[in-house]
Amino acid sequence: MERKLRRSVLYVPGSSEKMLGKSIGLDADALVLDLEDGVALSQKEEARNQVLDALKTVDFGDKEKIVRINGLITEFGHADLETIVEGRPDSILIPKVNGPAEMLEVDSIVAHLENKHDFPQDEIKLMVMVETPAAVLNLPAIANCSARATALCFGAADFMKETGGRITRGRSEALFVLTQMVLAARVAGIDAIDTPYFNIKDEEGLVETTEMVRDLGFDGRCVIHPSQIEPVNRIFSPSQEEIEYAQKVIKAYQEAEALGRGTIALEGELIEALHVEVAQRVLRIAERAA
Ligand code: GLV
Ligand code: MG
Repeated sequence: MERKLRRSVLYVPGSSEKMLGKSIGLDADALVLDLEDGVALSQKEEARNQVLDALKTVDFGDKEKIVRINGLITEFGHADLETIVEGRPDSILIPKVNGPAEMLEVDSIVAHLENKHDFPQDEIKLMVMVETPAAVLNLPAIANCSARATALCFGAADFMKETGGRITRGRSEALFVLTQMVLAARVAGIDAIDTPYFNIKDEEGLVETTEMVRDLGFDGRCVIHPSQIEPVNRIFSPSQEEIEYAQKVIKAYQEAEALGRGTIALEGELIEALHVEVAQRVLRIAERAA
């Protein structure tokens, strides 16, 4: 089964009823109802109950419902899971993971709770924040350890806190992480999703840095403000020009095959079977984005 698009993944603090309500009407493909760093310590319990209530009563339409829990080593993580699973989110986002052990612990607790509530097994998926140095070094193991895993999400703020580096416009400090994430995600057959762009007033920077990860192979990006949704959706959707070119590639290759040939020139470029697969992927994404 083909998964839903995750071009834009909007963080919404679970403690803000107003922002929760507003986010439903926005064009983000997915919502992260956040119980972790977007929520003050004093609000943790209220946020948890509010998110459960929203999961049970609000119609999210086509949007993927993701809940970011607190880590299981914190005093909140276990209660988050106990409460949230009852609301049947599509996915749980696990923060500050260091290696496969933390994923597997969440996986087994979720399995137990699905069982307890009589929900279908393995219905709830897992997404992982990549935001510690250990996570980067353990990426292949993290990406492959659980059949529930569907995405790796970069968290640049925590990552730079840990490394002592700085977030720059050119992103040279993150390039190693970003490349490793795409490779690990592709081997595991899951999504790679980029960190938010933290300056919500700088659309040019958002566009530049998002095009960069799109070109690396990323599937989408987290966003922290409604104004970031449209540019990010656009960047991760094929343009009209790309769609038309993909259609031409498929047609040209069919003609080549009819003539018993494995390659054909199109607008000066050599087309082989692999280009047809790329073109088909472009059309699949365009269709889902429409
Ligand atoms: C997000 O959680 C980040 O740390 O950047
Ligand atoms: Mg973080």
